[in-house]
Amino acid sequence: MAAISTLLNFLFPPPPSLFVTAMSVISIASLANAGFSEVRGKHLSYSKFWNVNNNDKANGNKKQQLKLSSKTGMLLLYTPAFLAGAASFLVFPDEGFRSTVLQSAVTIHFFKRVFEVLFVHKYSGSMALESAIPITLSYFVSSATMVYAQHLTVNLPEPPINLLYPGIVLFLVGITGNFYHHYLLSKLRIKGEKEYKIPKGGLFEFVICPHYLFEIIGFYGFSLISQTLYGFSFAIGTTFYLLGRSYATRRWYLSKFEDFPKNVKAIIPFVF
Ligand SMILES: NC(=O)c1ccc[n+]([C@@H]2O[C@H](COP(=O)([O-])OP(=O)(O)OC[C@H]3O[C@@H](n4cnc5c(N)ncnc54)[C@H](OP(=O)(O)O)[C@@H]3O)[C@@H](O)[C@H]2O)c1
Repeated sequence: MAAISTLLNFLFPPPPSLFVTAMSVISIASLANAGFSEVRGKHLSYSKFWNVNNNDKANGNKKQQLKLSSKTGMLLLYTPAFLAGAASFLVFPDEGFRSTVLQSAVTIHFFKRVFEVLFVHKYSGSMALESAIPITLSYFVSSATMVYAQHLTVNLPEPPINLLYPGIVLFLVGITGNFYHHYLLSKLRIKGEKEYKIPKGGLFEFVICPHYLFEIIGFYGFSLISQTLYGFSFAIGTTFYLLGRSYATRRWYLSKFEDFPKNVKAIIPFVF
């Protein structure tokens, strides 16, 4: 009881919507499951791991997968979520400052990803369609649900502790740090090159996935801006997934590069 009343200092009351409540549970459970799968070696098939599951010949079957170029696959992932964010201004207009900030943050986040796919990243591989479809749905449904959960708070009293402004700061730190480390990754290759190298600069000196760390920071920015249960569920689920994927990524670097510095952790400097 004491825990619930403490939480209600920071959160809008849970929504009277079975859909949003169910989605809060589903987001954490499905993303945590995806993170544990990464640790167990069952990867979503994109970037370094796009062909790993396919190469698993332990059972003697080489699975045929439908594949997209990485650029096409990534555009498929992010465009519907970007459009959901942009459309939210038309579907839920003028619902107050907090809602407008959340709608803007969601739209800017996914616009940035589309921009990076088109103009920053240099890809070497492909993406399996069977990975692209669930990820696309996950981003689209999560973004739409986050905005809808905010819509359900209209006319509710504001939580006693306002986290909107710290949320804006976290969001800006997140997208800026994420973009900077994407830029550093892109500098590792000249146009057309497909080789992998050990990343250098920025927080790459401490962790191999600083871009994921900043992604998580940005997602807690969404949570603090929204102060909804769903906003926090989505960020917690994303944290589980990216912890798992970064762990698998570090293991991949250790197996590929003999000179990979062992003090470089996965995602949290000096810790994990
Ligand atoms: N919210 C979520 O649940 C979630 C989940 C995953 C990702 N993301 C977001 O998506 C972003 C990108 O994620 P990602 O998993 O695709 O990142 P990634 O595997 O690190 O790849 C990012 C780009 O850098 C290239 N790259 C990576 N390591 C390289 C190396 N050692 N040498 C040369 N090039 C290298 C990749 O090329 P290749 O394609 O050739 O590998 C790709 O173009 C993240 O920062 C995050 O913002 C979000």
